[in-house]
Amino acid sequence: MTTDAYADLVSLRTDLPIWDRFFTVAPLVVIGTREAGGEDDLAPKHMAGPMSWDNYFGFVCAPSHSTYVNIRRDKAFTVSYPRQSQVVLTSLAASPRCADGSKSAIQGLPTFPAREIEGVFLRDSQLCLECRLDRIVDEVGPNSLIIGKVVAVYVHRDALRTKNRYDADVVADQPLLVYLHPGRFAEIRDSRRFPFPAGFKR
Ligand SMILES: Cc1cc2nc3c(=O)[nH]c(=O)nc-3n(C[C@H](O)[C@H](O)[C@H](O)COP(=O)(O)O)c2cc1C
Repeated sequence: MTTDAYADLVSLRTDLPIWDRFFTVAPLVVIGTREAGGEDDLAPKHMAGPMSWDNYFGFVCAPSHSTYVNIRRDKAFTVSYPRQSQVVLTSLAASPRCADGSKSAIQGLPTFPAREIEGVFLRDSQLCLECRLDRIVDEVGPNSLIIGKVVAVYVHRDALRTKNRYDADVVADQPLLVYLHPGRFAEIRDSRRFPFPAGFKR
């Protein structure tokens, strides 16, 4: 007798957003852009990651956000991958704007300038990317997908994979911050090699 594969599964309505009903694993990045007035803007995003085996990075953004408006105008953005110790700073980058549209919390965040594009990184991040806009896919529901070509990348020396170190030691030494949507985070130190099938090629 086969057990009912649906016995422990709850079917959810799909006419409502589903993503707050359970946890999923996501990265947490901080996107950097320049405002029209020249101030730096930083905003956290979790719907983000590589968009190709080639060097493309993408993230989902609300078109009402300054991040979107700035990228449409300047066609460039930075990406900082923060550590667990930077979670509060990362959160502050999502502070609401004042009545005049400014985001004063940004001024208190430790940053350093990108080299190839106009923008800043969150200081002490593990991984930093500079991207030039490749394309924007609008109207993915209420959101847009912003894809950039990576034109510069900086990795903390201890987070870089090398022939001389075990991958497990790299992760243990430089733990990865993950966002558990909605509203939790974790740090990954303990990792195992993935059991690829014999003969696997991507
Ligand atoms: C943990 C976290 C994750 C977020 N992820 C996203 C995201 O993936 N996409 C998005 O559009 N907004 C996301 N937001 C919201 C924006 O970061 C926030 O609205 C920000 O203030 C927008 O800033 P801006 O107007 O300067 O672009 C997230 C916020 C937090 C706190």
